[in-house]
Amino acid sequence: MRQVRTLGLLGTGVIGGGWAARALHFGIDVVAADVKPEMEEWLRGAVANAEGALARLTFAPLPPKGRLTFTTDMHAMAREVDFIQENIPEQLELKQRVLADVSRHAPADVVIASSTSGLMPSDLQRDMVAPERMLVAHPFNPVYLLPLVELVGGRQTSAAALDAAARFFTYIGMHPLRVRREVPGHLTDRLQEALWREILHLVNEDVATTGELDDSIVYGPGLRWAGMGTNLIYHLAGGETGMRHMLRQFGPCLKWPWTKLEAPELTEELIDKMVAGTQTQAAGRSIRELERLRDDYLVAIQQVLREYNIGAGATLRALEERLYEDAAAASRPRIAAAAAAGAAGSGGGALRLLETQVRPEWIDYNGHMTDSRYLQVFGDATDALFRYAGIDEAYRRGGHALYTVESRVVHKAEARSQERLYVMSRVLEVDGKRVRLLHDLHRARDDALVASAEQLYLHVGTAAGKVVPMDAAVRGRLAAIQAGTR
Ligand SMILES: NC(=O)c1ccc[n+]([C@@H]2O[C@H](COP(=O)([O-])OP(=O)(O)OC[C@H]3O[C@@H](n4cnc5c(N)ncnc54)[C@H](O)[C@@H]3O)[C@@H](O)[C@H]2O)c1
Repeated sequence: MRQVRTLGLLGTGVIGGGWAARALHFGIDVVAADVKPEMEEWLRGAVANAEGALARLTFAPLPPKGRLTFTTDMHAMAREVDFIQENIPEQLELKQRVLADVSRHAPADVVIASSTSGLMPSDLQRDMVAPERMLVAHPFNPVYLLPLVELVGGRQTSAAALDAAARFFTYIGMHPLRVRREVPGHLTDRLQEALWREILHLVNEDVATTGELDDSIVYGPGLRWAGMGTNLIYHLAGGETGMRHMLRQFGPCLKWPWTKLEAPELTEELIDKMVAGTQTQAAGRSIRELERLRDDYLVAIQQVLREYNIGAGATLRALEERLYEDAAAASRPRIAAAAAAGAAGSGGGALRLLETQVRPEWIDYNGHMTDSRYLQVFGDATDALFRYAGIDEAYRRGGHALYTVESRVVHKAEARSQERLYVMSRVLEVDGKRVRLLHDLHRARDDALVASAEQLYLHVGTAAGKVVPMDAAVRGRLAAIQAGTR
């Protein structure tokens, strides 16, 4: 299957818009196709809306944003892209017809995935050309912030297509969960629907309002669920003997049963109660306002979970590690050449360490790159250099790190939105415990110097928080780069 540089979207509603925002943010070009031309404006608005929260998700160096184009020609889209994600309405015949049609125009090595919430891939792939490249990739709203994507293969789906899809979704920061066997509703919607059915019964029988039922989750189980699911949580609740004890104690009541399997009749009265209840909860706030609130706390929660390396936080951590690696990998051959030249006694001057682009969210009210982003870009250049010297995640896990103790930034020119930049760096000084670097940030279009930063780092034993001598091999590599960048 292909490496994905361009994603094709079939249907650009709520879910298509979420896919677009996520892919563009992580550097993938998007060709979005919808039958309604007016969806272009809607889509561009949805992408812009997502940007605020997405931009705060991680400060790791990102590749330049992808390019978004829109078309009403599904066939043209299918010919141009490396991966197609279908997000049209949840109707089996419609999806079957459109997927079959698009599959006649997409080369056979282009994976075609469906966002369907509950339809089975074997049914969807029935009339397609090269059905082995078709699978379900079921995301969750908002797609640009929630990492979960359920991957489900049908009877004809190949392992290669599932592997390629998992690679692509991981690349754009997601957690692909492979569903072992196709079942209606996959995994998550089965669980969500069970909960929703109970909610409808309890509201229908006037046992509780929608707000009270939401409170019953938000103040309790919901807090636990972000880090541990129901099963592990129940294992904990069973004391020393864990799940076995839990099942012995509470198993019998599963048979009583507390819950109902069939949803209640959706009468007008029940619908009114559900609508009135949720309107009371919204308390006059618009959907947009509530979406912003939801997005903000989803970002914050993932950042906290990253500290504990669990759930969505583990996905974020792995993504960031890869982003730093990617940024560093591009400059590794140049650093190696400088180090080799330095070891042989010839200095070649400053080293081109980092290529980047001013992202729209980096701009301040003057229309220029804002101060804090300069430190971020210089930090990314430092990271690339230190990684080459051997100061990476493993080194940090071993209890050592270089801490910044001084930064002096001098600004010379402005950098505007989308401007391409590069950093030229030199190691000014290395001894057993200190490294001093000089970074010059340039605009790519005219090579003008935008800013310089001189930074001092101390080598620290992280457990004690004390300055300690650095590893001899690390010091040797930094010394070679110092000689090579003289
Ligand atoms: N909304 C959710 O929370 C959610 C979550 C996960 C998965 N899904 C799944 O994603 C899919 C899309 O859901 P949505 O909520 O984005 O729907 P939506 O109604 O917001 O968007 C559907 C889009 O498809 C377009 N469309 C219709 N027919 C088309 C065709 N023949 N060719 C191209 N475009 C066409 C429509 O113009 C519309 O813009 C469904 O299968 C749904 O089950 C939805």
